[in-house]
Amino acid sequence: MFSKVKLSENGQIITLSSSGGDMRFHAMWMRDNAPDADTRSAVNGQRLITLNDIPADVAITDAGLDGDQVLVTFSDRPHAVAYDAAWLAQHCYDMPSSHPPIWINPELTTWQGGARVPAADYKDVMTDDAAKLDWLEGLHRFGVAKLDGGPIESGALMDVAAIFGYVRETNYGKWFEVRTEVNPVNLAYTGLGLQAHTDNPYRDPVPTMQILYCLENAAEGGDSMVVDGFACVERLMATAPEAAEILSRYCARFDYRGSSGVALSSKRPMVETAPDGELTGIRFNNRSAAAFTDVPFDDMPAYYDAYRKLSELIDDPAMQVSFKLNPGECFIVDNTRVLHARNGYTGEGTRWLQGCYPDKDGLLSTIASMKSMKEAAE
Ligand code: FE2
Repeated sequence: MFSKVKLSENGQIITLSSSGGDMRFHAMWMRDNAPDADTRSAVNGQRLITLNDIPADVAITDAGLDGDQVLVTFSDRPHAVAYDAAWLAQHCYDMPSSHPPIWINPELTTWQGGARVPAADYKDVMTDDAAKLDWLEGLHRFGVAKLDGGPIESGALMDVAAIFGYVRETNYGKWFEVRTEVNPVNLAYTGLGLQAHTDNPYRDPVPTMQILYCLENAAEGGDSMVVDGFACVERLMATAPEAAEILSRYCARFDYRGSSGVALSSKRPMVETAPDGELTGIRFNNRSAAAFTDVPFDDMPAYYDAYRKLSELIDDPAMQVSFKLNPGECFIVDNTRVLHARNGYTGEGTRWLQGCYPDKDGLLSTIASMKSMKEAAE
């Protein structure tokens, strides 16, 4: 993999050369990431030292290549440490950063109206690991997936959550009922659709995933609809980047006091980014948005203009995917990214869904561990 190794800056930098070019690493980074048994537990891979155990002026005193390994000796250690060359190449950080101010992880696929939501059959996912991994990866990449053909039983959604993770209990319980009796005498009320939203933005931490599982859907209409919030920000970045930027710069406020003993509130931006500009989340909910008080007076008009632009994109049918859930079917959304809504009803009948909030760390962990088991078996 590497053909040459060179030390420079008094051993502060090591340069590894290959046919693809040079990769530089700092002595401190290399020492902190040493894989030897004195630095990392051989049992669980956890680091055994703190940064303060490494001298601030640590340097590399010698380095060489040995097959697929890079051997490095540090000023604070008598013995060479062996690094896997492929691991170093995978963890290289020596590359130009050319990100726009707000950018989306290239692992994710953004989508608009007309996109096909990843879907699978309940029995396939429950019995076939390849089908399960494929479906979970689709869920992660698109931020939404459907599962069809499940049991029509109260609580069945908990078995769906157990496919990839653990449910977060809230004041609504381990799961909650979404029941609507559509009364034709009062259609004006019951037939109301909802604007697409992320759930519970007034919580911190916010629920990271949601399952909505259908047990009855005899009403006309009442389709489910999803919108990719990341695709909306992408469009905002293309047409009005200053709007995306101001929504990420200032916090919104959300709150909920709908039942006794509950007073939830949060202060978070509607468009949340990491310090390097990676888009990490969307919080959008017209019903629980509180008075915004964290936007400076002079910026409030521009903030409201940006909020309106985002709201219009979310309401744009060109961004929306709708589907009808039948009994035994469910959909799952990444609640930090994909907004969901219920379209209005046009007839009478009963609609009964159950919902719960599994956490996304379980999804990512299940995907990563299934992938490494699959690679090890190949
Ligand atoms: Fe909701």
